[in-house]
Amino acid sequence: MILVTGATGTVGRAVIDQLRAAGAQVRATSRHPAAAQLPADVEVVQADLGDPTRMAAAMRDADRVFLLSTGPAIPEHDAVVARAAAEAGIARLVKLSSGRTGDDTATDPIPTWHRAGEQSVRAAGAPWTIVRPLGFMSNALHWAGTIRAHGAVYAPYGQGRIAVIDPRDIAAVVTVALTTDGHDGQVYTLSGPQALSPGEQTDILGDVLGRRLEFVEIAPEQARQAILDHGVPAELADAIMALRATALETFTSVVHDTVERLTGVPPRTFRQWVADHVAEFPSAAA
Ligand SMILES: NC(=O)c1ccc[n+]([C@@H]2O[C@H](COP(=O)([O-])OP(=O)(O)OC[C@H]3O[C@@H](n4cnc5c(N)ncnc54)[C@H](OP(=O)(O)O)[C@@H]3O)[C@@H](O)[C@H]2O)c1
Repeated sequence: MILVTGATGTVGRAVIDQLRAAGAQVRATSRHPAAAQLPADVEVVQADLGDPTRMAAAMRDADRVFLLSTGPAIPEHDAVVARAAAEAGIARLVKLSSGRTGDDTATDPIPTWHRAGEQSVRAAGAPWTIVRPLGFMSNALHWAGTIRAHGAVYAPYGQGRIAVIDPRDIAAVVTVALTTDGHDGQVYTLSGPQALSPGEQTDILGDVLGRRLEFVEIAPEQARQAILDHGVPAELADAIMALRATALETFTSVVHDTVERLTGVPPRTFRQWVADHVAEFPSAAA
């Protein structure tokens, strides 16, 4: 039995699908099981990552755990899950971290939170694997609103390139780490096949969607305000903006061969990701 946390989110949901395809028995946690919309053969249990009692109960009869935590609570939540995993005798704990956690010069909040979480995972005693993806291709979904309204993508740091990755390829590596041997104590940094600037992503989006899209570079303060306008708390908005600024650094543009090395399949291109998500963007006729 494999316990998947963060199961209703972008990566967790893809992990659920790929574990089921691999024939694994899967249990998922959600804070709101009634709204989880997971396949009928997935057992869904109500648990908050910060609740040691619920997390211990969720791990009963499980032998492997996928840990996905988000935001400022990452250090606390990872400590709770890592302790519960060690006490439950879990045979492998796979933590989703962040690529920039591996950049020793990165001191902004998100890698700092994940670094603390990784430390708890390493220290707790359960055999562990850490997966550190660079930026997700799915972040481009945040552009759908302005594509619909203005036929444009507004983003800061137009010169920055990130070797963005399809969340399904992250899930593929997580599935390999959960279901095959030889991953204990390993740290896997993941990227997609190519580093792209937001302008280059905009061109690919326009090409696949069949409409002309304009890329407009905006000031970081405007981007921060747009995040706040979506109801994101200031602490998280600042953390996201600090991460976005690192698009200008070389670290985020490095292409890693990890996905193909571990899964035997090259990582998907951004063009493939867009083609598979066309329905989530306004069409040419819109
Ligand atoms: N976006 C990027 O470019 C990027 C790059 C590298 C790394 N990352 C890392 O990827 C992670 C985010 O992954 P994602 O985008 O797949 O997440 P997501 O779509 O935002 O989903 C978050 C999941 O976490 C669950 N969750 C949130 N708070 C919880 C709590 N207190 N207790 C239990 N479950 C909780 C939610 O489940 P319920 O609501 O059902 O409870 C949901 O399934 C973060 O660690 C981030 O740092 C992101």
